[in-house]
Amino acid sequence: MRVLVIGSGGREHALAWAIAASPLCDALYCAPGNPGIAEDAVCVPVSADDLDGIVALARRERIDFVVVGPEAPLVAGLVDRLEAAGIAAFGPSAAAAALEGSKGFMKDLCAKYGIPTAGYGRFREAQPAKEFVRRHGAPIVVKADGLAAGKGVTVAMTVEDALAAIDEAMIGRRFGAAGAELVIEEFLAGEEASFFALVDGSHALPLATAQDHKRVGDGDTGPNTGGMGAYSPAACVSPEIERAVMERIILPTVRGMGEEGRAYRGVLYAGLMLTRDGPKLIEYNVRFGDPECQALLPRLKSDLLPALVAARDGVLDGFDLRWRDEAAVCVVLAAKGYPGDPVKGTEIAGLDAASSDPAVKVFHAATRREGARLVADGGRVLDVVALGKDVADARDKAYAAIERIRWPGGFFRRDIGWRALGRR
Ligand code: AMP
Ligand code: GLY
Repeated sequence: MRVLVIGSGGREHALAWAIAASPLCDALYCAPGNPGIAEDAVCVPVSADDLDGIVALARRERIDFVVVGPEAPLVAGLVDRLEAAGIAAFGPSAAAAALEGSKGFMKDLCAKYGIPTAGYGRFREAQPAKEFVRRHGAPIVVKADGLAAGKGVTVAMTVEDALAAIDEAMIGRRFGAAGAELVIEEFLAGEEASFFALVDGSHALPLATAQDHKRVGDGDTGPNTGGMGAYSPAACVSPEIERAVMERIILPTVRGMGEEGRAYRGVLYAGLMLTRDGPKLIEYNVRFGDPECQALLPRLKSDLLPALVAARDGVLDGFDLRWRDEAAVCVVLAAKGYPGDPVKGTEIAGLDAASSDPAVKVFHAATRREGARLVADGGRVLDVVALGKDVADARDKAYAAIERIRWPGGFFRRDIGWRALGRR
């Protein structure tokens, strides 16, 4: 099978690495990829958002199966385009990707099918949005309806902050068209976890759980980021909670999407809040989490590729995946200045030494080659993942590997996994 992975981050490196190991994979391409992915795949400089370019590339290289990493091309309809061209693709159609592409759509679906989530209102005008905030009081959460590169959510601890967030989105147009509509919702208290399932249109196969660390600083301080590290399995998701998530959240969503004529295929990523009243859905993403994927895939014992193909083909029923007993910890190395204005171009060395432990894998998230030098090329730059007999062991191995990386331009959180382990 000739496979093409779309994207260029750490998530796509983990996907390419897992797919390259499949005996079913005869040739692996990635668009656009990165220097780490280039060790596993032929990288072709076509942007993930260039839908025409990707369809042409898939035709030219006689690709049998495309795996789409990021949400933007999914929401823009890349899978529809590929399938219309006769090329099988893993990921939801544009109609199904609305679960991430429109928070209002997702909330209305939850309301219609009784899926537990925060109470909410949808607004296209500032005035009624502000009245809603004044009526409900703080804390309250203001969200841009559309894709806003992970920056569209304000958890407002005061009414004033919520009103300011409404003005920024609707009058300041901070998120452009993505913020023309707002979802304002009830604040949920509890511990957060990420839950992943493969979905084939009518069946869902739970994958594994993970916990992300969204704040930039140790102890969950400072601004939000795309995620500074993850570990898997998430300590807080017991088998009972996992069953409840499947029965009350994932399966009703799959049924509901079918009834709406938007059958969901691909990976469904539920961002959960474990509240005193049980697990509630914070948001859906229509792709793997980044960096959760990098912690998940090294734990997978089974071949990933046939599972992705089965999800696309609608034959997941009875499919089984086996996981290692080991835990995984992924620590993100970010460029100084992230998440604001990361410094690009600083040199990175020592990656071979860091990967000398067979339990460790270094995924590239934003690197670039400059001649023989490897340099940082974005905010989140490297993902150092280690397997261990438990989260503590995996964490120790990951941090030992990081010690061997020589990158004065980078920084990382020193407490990944703290909710499972306590603070060091
Ligand atoms: P996002 O940028 O969509 O990943 O959301 C950012 C973060 O906002 C989530 O990870 C939660 O920590 C927080 N959040 C979103 N919705 C709620 C809510 N209803 N209650 C509490 N926190 C929330
Ligand atoms: N780690 C959060 C995300 O992928 O959205």
